Amino acid sequence: MSQEIIEKVNTSRLSLYQQLFIYGDFIPLNFKIDTDLFLNEIKQFDNDWVVYNKHKGDTGRMGLSVTSLDGGLSGEPDLQSLYEFSQRTGKVYSENDFCRPTEVFKKVTAIQNILTTFEDGLGRCRIVKFSAGGFFPPHRDQSIKYQVPDYFRIFIALNNCGENDLYFIYDDKKIKYEVGRAYLFNALKPHSVFSFTKDAYTFAISLQLNQKNIQKAIQSFLVK
Ligand SMILES: [Fe+2]
Repeated sequence: MSQEIIEKVNTSRLSLYQQLFIYGDFIPLNFKIDTDLFLNEIKQFDNDWVVYNKHKGDTGRMGLSVTSLDGGLSGEPDLQSLYEFSQRTGKVYSENDFCRPTEVFKKVTAIQNILTTFEDGLGRCRIVKFSAGGFFPPHRDQSIKYQVPDYFRIFIALNNCGENDLYFIYDDKKIKYEVGRAYLFNALKPHSVFSFTKDAYTFAISLQLNQKNIQKAIQSFLVK
């Protein structure tokens, strides 16, 4: 792909991305998940968890797809690092290819409010369950082909995510977050997650980077 095309794509994505993150890097939204209801409803999927990024061995994480390529729960390849998957197989997917709702989307009502708000603009959405010692090492969420991604991210801590249970380290700082609260965050800056407890659940939502989603996200800021 020519440098001119890459520059053009990056320029238009950057103008969209900046519309969000001029407001901050870690922005609370007015979506709050009922975590007790979530825990009750997620039990029906006890046998559907998939080892997250299984090619890397056990890093103490299991995943459950809320959206996927085919609407199924196989985790192939959405519960892997898409970058590493592309390196291994030569197949390149965008976060936005994983937009088909799974049974988790349809049956776990506790997470539906935020999902239906962005329903026609969802990317890859998944719940991650950490064991004690489970982690995501420091990284940036970049796209595979371009420096500026075609999506943006929301993080929600769901269960066993108290101040001393799950550390979200963002840009070298430990973030204070409210359990159940949705946060928009600039995932281009370095971040990592570490769980000190078992069964810590988080919910990662990718949204397609387009003007409609940006408008909805800004309308959802907790602090207007
Ligand atoms: Fe990340």
